[in-house]
Amino acid sequence: MCGGLSAKGLKAPLPVTHFDTIIIGAGAAGLMCAITAGSRGLRVLLLDHNSQVGSKILISGGGRCNFTNTGTSPENFISANAHFARSALSRFTPADFLALVTKHKIAWHEKTLGQLFCDGSARQIVAMLLAECEAQAVTIKVGVKITDVRKADHFRVDTSTGNYTAANLVLATGSLSIPKMGATGFAHDVARKFELKITACKPGLVPVRAPEQELPFYAALSGLSLKATATAAKMIFAENILFTHRGLSGPAILQASSYLDHGDRLHLDLAPGVDVANHFKQRKRDRSQAEFKTILSEIVPQRLASALVPQKPMTDVTIADIERLETTLHRWSLIPDGTEGYAKAEVTVGGVDTAELSSKTMAAKKIPGLYIIGEAVDVTGWLGGYNFQWAWASGVAAGSDVSA
Ligand code: FDA
Repeated sequence: MCGGLSAKGLKAPLPVTHFDTIIIGAGAAGLMCAITAGSRGLRVLLLDHNSQVGSKILISGGGRCNFTNTGTSPENFISANAHFARSALSRFTPADFLALVTKHKIAWHEKTLGQLFCDGSARQIVAMLLAECEAQAVTIKVGVKITDVRKADHFRVDTSTGNYTAANLVLATGSLSIPKMGATGFAHDVARKFELKITACKPGLVPVRAPEQELPFYAALSGLSLKATATAAKMIFAENILFTHRGLSGPAILQASSYLDHGDRLHLDLAPGVDVANHFKQRKRDRSQAEFKTILSEIVPQRLASALVPQKPMTDVTIADIERLETTLHRWSLIPDGTEGYAKAEVTVGGVDTAELSSKTMAAKKIPGLYIIGEAVDVTGWLGGYNFQWAWASGVAAGSDVSA
């Protein structure tokens, strides 16, 4: 019987359908979990409130999806338990995902630092995952509002379009980043309902805001990008930084942001590896009539050079000027006025406490049959394909363990 108004005007109950496993969240982790469980002959239901699956995959990597990183290791992840990710990552590796990509004849390339991207479009990854789901007879329902989740003998999930029961429930709804794309704290809320602990959460891989009084300096350089190192909590990232009209972004800043807490100092080296004193002393000898900023623009982009030093010829540049500049370039630092928040964050740092879960299967230790995977868990990867690799690997770990 379908739901709707009966002859007496009362709402008829929605039908209840039984599956072996219900997965809530058809993102990277949920799709991979569904494929794995389906391939083991289980009847799998995959639910999502968005109108399409894999929304974040589609926008990832600038539309080309940085789908893994060949150098993935537990050291590329932030978690209260640094070892938690090891088991799942070792049992489903970047090579395993690449084998799937190759099987589907998706052309790919390595951009830099082990980051693998599609040559074509992220749509190919979603199409591949959907084809695999279809091959494993996974039932997918999108545009579904989850109205209740509870557990008696079985898990029961009530939705706007039907009610479902299953022996296993997998929470794969990701985390809080980019709410306008449908990101919610649903997995955390359900985990809390089952009395599982959630660690403190904050936006990660996110641009930072400049301190208010220094904002005009950063804003004036908006759009300027340069190679630098960014250090936060003793983690050093050597990649590009980007000045924005609100502060700083770019890969090195995004990486460091995941390690910053409010009020922490962010350290930058704007001329990594350059012997500034030696460079200027030499130029004072061989280009004494050149402008100070012209010589500096041999080290940093011209706009930054003009913003950092006064207009004067090299003959007038003193040793003290050079020492000051050396400190400015190598020891730039700021205490960011917060970040751009979840609206701009690629990931959420923190999530379901790993102490609540088996690292081998992602099963909740206290609630038999409940699994939590992907970004919802307190495992956050660096920028560069690590977060998808965690989503695939944790999805496979749970999908290999669920049973009828
Ligand atoms: P994910 O967020 O992918 O999926 C969760 C699913 O649950 C979504 O489909 C959502 O609609 C659904 N959902 C949420 N709440 C629900 C509710 N209440 N009811 C029902 N369904 C619900 N990583 C990487 O490795 N390489 C990259 O190139 C990028 N690029 C990138 C770009 C941008 C702009 C962002 C925001 C993020 C990235 N990432 C990335 C990070 C990566 O997208 C992220 O870590 C994974 O998608 C996490 O996978 P999950 O499956 O855990 O969550």
